[in-house]
Amino acid sequence: MRIDVITLFPEFVETCAGIGVVGRAQERGLLQVQAWNPRDYATDAYRRVDERPFGGGPGMVMLIDPLRDALVAARAAATEPAKTIYLSPQGTRLTQEKVAEFAQRDRMILLCGRYEGVDERLLEHEADEEISIGDYVLSGGELAAAVLIDAIGRLQEGALNDAQSAQQDSFSDGLLDCPHYTRPEQHALGPVPTVLTSGDHAAIRRWRRKQALGRTWLRRPELLAQLKLGKEDEKLLIEFQQDTKI
Ligand code: ADE
Repeated sequence: MRIDVITLFPEFVETCAGIGVVGRAQERGLLQVQAWNPRDYATDAYRRVDERPFGGGPGMVMLIDPLRDALVAARAAATEPAKTIYLSPQGTRLTQEKVAEFAQRDRMILLCGRYEGVDERLLEHEADEEISIGDYVLSGGELAAAVLIDAIGRLQEGALNDAQSAQQDSFSDGLLDCPHYTRPEQHALGPVPTVLTSGDHAAIRRWRRKQALGRTWLRRPELLAQLKLGKEDEKLLIEFQQDTKI
């Protein structure tokens, strides 16, 4: 997969995409991230990329032309067509389902705004989708782009060392993840749940499912409400609810 990012802070995006799982995915040739700076496409002597808003008000608005020229250059860097996604708090909320859908694509272009935003005419003509990573305001789209690249990058086939771990992620089946433990088995902070050291794989699977259902019920009931639970899951959830009612 190839991701081109239009940003005034190319080093930030490239650094984020160069570390950890996503960095490794790039090294393995599973993912290519390239940043494009609209300032490189500014034509005036000051390399201006923003101007005061028409109608007055605080802040600055990003100019159409440097962004458009950077987009044109990014599009021309590969032959596959690419959807352009604008990151903003006004966009559709990002979910794991949406991340999984993006991860199937061969290519995408992320457009990061700064200041008060981007001239609306550019968005109308050039942006295919608008995505928000949450109901809060960042000072620019770069952190949101880095979030999106990380979430997409780790889903590329071969990016994670344990092939199962993406399937076991929180949200991949609509539930939160179960708790995890490692050595030592006995610690001043408490013991590890005995089932996990029992070697009984069916019991472990059952316990994990029960914890995932229970945590989702406690912490994110609205997620649980969207699911149609099977008989076994319902039984596990009732058990969890009875255990927690002591
Ligand atoms: N840019 C600023 N805030 C944002 C948000 N919450 N999501 C995506 N892009 C943004």
